[in-house]
Amino acid sequence: MRYGFFDDAKREYVIETPETPLPWINYLGSNKFFGLISNTGGGYCFYRDAKLRRLTRYRYNNVPRDTGGRLYYIKDGADFWSPTFLPAKKTLDSYRCRHGMGYTVFESSRNNLMSELTCFVPREENCEINRLVIKNTSGESKDISVVGAVEFCLWNAVDDGTNFQRNYNIGEVEVEDNTIYHKTEYRERRNHYAFFSVNKEADGFDTDLDMFIGKFNDYEAPLTVMNGKSNNSIAHGWSPIGSHRLEYTLTPGEEVELIFILGYIELDKAKKWDGNAADGIINKKPANELINKYNSTESVLNELNALSTYWDNLLGKYIVESGDEKLDRMVNIWNQYQCMTTFNMSRSASYYESGQGRGMGFRDSCQDLLGFVHMVPERARERILDIAAIQFENGGAWHQYQPLTKRGNADAGMGFNDDPLWLIACTHAYISETGDYSILDEMVPFENEAGTEKPLFEHLRASFNYTLNNLGPHGLPLIGRADWNDCLNLNCFSEEPGESFQTCANIESNAESVFIAGMFVLYGRQYAELCLKLGSKDEANRAYEAVEKMNEAVLAHGWDGEWFIRAYDSNGDKVGSKENNDGKIFIEPQGMCVMAEIGVDDGRAVTALKAAKEKLTFEYGTCLLAPAYKEYHLNLGEITSYPPGYKENGSVFCHNNPWLSIAETIAGNPDEAFEIYRRICPAYIEDISEKHRTEPYVYSQTIAGQEAPTAGEAKNSWLTGTAAWTFVNVSQYLLGIRPNLDGLGINPCLPERFKKITIKRIFREALYNIIFERSNEKGLWVDGKKIDSDTVPVAPAKSIVDVLCKY
Ligand code: GLC
Ligand code: GLC
Repeated sequence: MRYGFFDDAKREYVIETPETPLPWINYLGSNKFFGLISNTGGGYCFYRDAKLRRLTRYRYNNVPRDTGGRLYYIKDGADFWSPTFLPAKKTLDSYRCRHGMGYTVFESSRNNLMSELTCFVPREENCEINRLVIKNTSGESKDISVVGAVEFCLWNAVDDGTNFQRNYNIGEVEVEDNTIYHKTEYRERRNHYAFFSVNKEADGFDTDLDMFIGKFNDYEAPLTVMNGKSNNSIAHGWSPIGSHRLEYTLTPGEEVELIFILGYIELDKAKKWDGNAADGIINKKPANELINKYNSTESVLNELNALSTYWDNLLGKYIVESGDEKLDRMVNIWNQYQCMTTFNMSRSASYYESGQGRGMGFRDSCQDLLGFVHMVPERARERILDIAAIQFENGGAWHQYQPLTKRGNADAGMGFNDDPLWLIACTHAYISETGDYSILDEMVPFENEAGTEKPLFEHLRASFNYTLNNLGPHGLPLIGRADWNDCLNLNCFSEEPGESFQTCANIESNAESVFIAGMFVLYGRQYAELCLKLGSKDEANRAYEAVEKMNEAVLAHGWDGEWFIRAYDSNGDKVGSKENNDGKIFIEPQGMCVMAEIGVDDGRAVTALKAAKEKLTFEYGTCLLAPAYKEYHLNLGEITSYPPGYKENGSVFCHNNPWLSIAETIAGNPDEAFEIYRRICPAYIEDISEKHRTEPYVYSQTIAGQEAPTAGEAKNSWLTGTAAWTFVNVSQYLLGIRPNLDGLGINPCLPERFKKITIKRIFREALYNIIFERSNEKGLWVDGKKIDSDTVPVAPAKSIVDVLCKY
């Protein structure tokens, strides 16, 4: 069953009912100010850091799940309703929510009133604009009133949800000229405030939540709305809100347009006050400038256009026409859009990530970059340098850093032994995309310590050496706290409820990871390639030798007869082997080892992929492991804490499915490669939205696995490494346009049904018009001339290159 449809021409997903299985959300903002917005107007806004600068409040575990956010009410005689359905929850005569690139529009109507609410964040501004147009479509005059409201969060989202003895005393606001200013803690150490304004003369306001709502009421039916009367209340502590009420008489056909702005202002300490600190009047000048900038229809619509142009440019870097509209819409629109979101948010703020905890992950951010680097390479460059700065001199790294301080996060610890190698992966991808070797000369400190700066290249060397300096008894890499699979905790042995599986290491052991071994072979080669380009032949040779040795170690100790094993535990026993009762086979080493081309020559790769298909794959994707663990294993950790078929214990953990798909392309199986892509691809499973439940336009982290009671049901949409990896897979391996250090590699691997395909790819500032044609004669023609390689050489910036690939 579907709840809406794709409108590809507008780059929108159009939701036709508020009753989606779960809130289906969108992200507003691409710079510093962000908003999450659901198809019923829910969500929250923040400035840069979802924990420390939260502007509006969101109640987790709420009932119903998604109240709060943008609160609009239209009162029409005795009746009132919300243009976003929630919070008023009145049945609408018509409803549409159009989620587009950085904006969301609600079109709804009830009783001959039509409304259109457009929500977006201007490109370079710290505010969210809500433009509400209401039209009387009846034959008679209507007296209406409109209430727009937000509930402020007291900045630090964690304190806001916990420290009530303080919170109930600190809330402060000011009201002036149709603008409500939220200035809690401004009197002391904050130099920022928020505001909520409307561009027309208001008939009343409220800033005190209890006054607004009334006793025993809720947002569904606030007293102010029901009575058609504001209290003009000023909040002193408790829960400050911003609400405006405006009254109109609309003649038949008449419409009214209101522009509400939720803004964030940061001031110079010295210019914080209008007058004395003791008077407590905040400096409203910058707020007024911002409000005035967007007080007209024209300025708002211009800004909306600018947003659209911005996305034209971003998405114009890779455009495919394949004859399969689902493939095209994912590649050209939604997958890239999600890559931008994961790049911006990492794993911080979604409807499943509370925005209160996790900073930017080392491995997560390195991988997110793989799907983003072609869009805004300059931002990718900056990110690489930030990430490298939380590395230690021995090559290890903090597992996370806080985006505001860019410092390592001690709570999340270190010693995740896959982390360092991801830095090689993303740097190699960045240089392949841009040809910018100068990044390797950038001086980057270790652990953010001034004075420890070394060229980025030395960080890559440290990453490479870190694996070599941490080998176990089989010559395989030590796993440390965990590798990519955060829940395979081989040194943890936790018997204390509540202890973090990731950061407690109760034993020191020689547990080894075959997955990291595969990574080392893959990314160790990329390191060697970079060394060669820099003229360091000896270092390249050293790297190739180490890689070859690792390759042998995997073949000797990482092979189980029909597939690659996952690890050796602290006792030296195999994990992910036919010798085990549960967890006999894991997906990660099959994907990663074959991506590294281990066993490709001798048939083992094909055998391993066959096993993954037989034992792990079902209708809804390829599961992380099988059989799922039925009980808790002290020696394996968190992975066995989940019920069978969920999360790391045997769900379809979507992030790793593209590895397997890429592996199939390397093994030369286009059909299965594409099937692996298709099974979890949102656009292809739109028809089973009632089962899948999360948004049909973005990937989720997991889909309940073959052993789960709710097999096929997804959870944790949006912030997942799946976005980047599926884009890498589909754009670089299935469609086969893969930047490398020498140019643009062309090597499609697609099922027979794909015939003629055209792709526009902007690469190093030149435009490549690529055509794939099925033919018996295979080869690559560049500007009409056949070339002897599958890499198109780099063309001068601004030039246009015609590429014909017969395949
Ligand atoms: C989560 C983490 C990621 C990890 C994955 C598998 O998505 O963010 O770092 O690799 O889980 O455990
Ligand atoms: C939990 C999750 C895992 C995630 C980790 C991050 O263990 O299962 O997916 O990577 O938390 O801290």
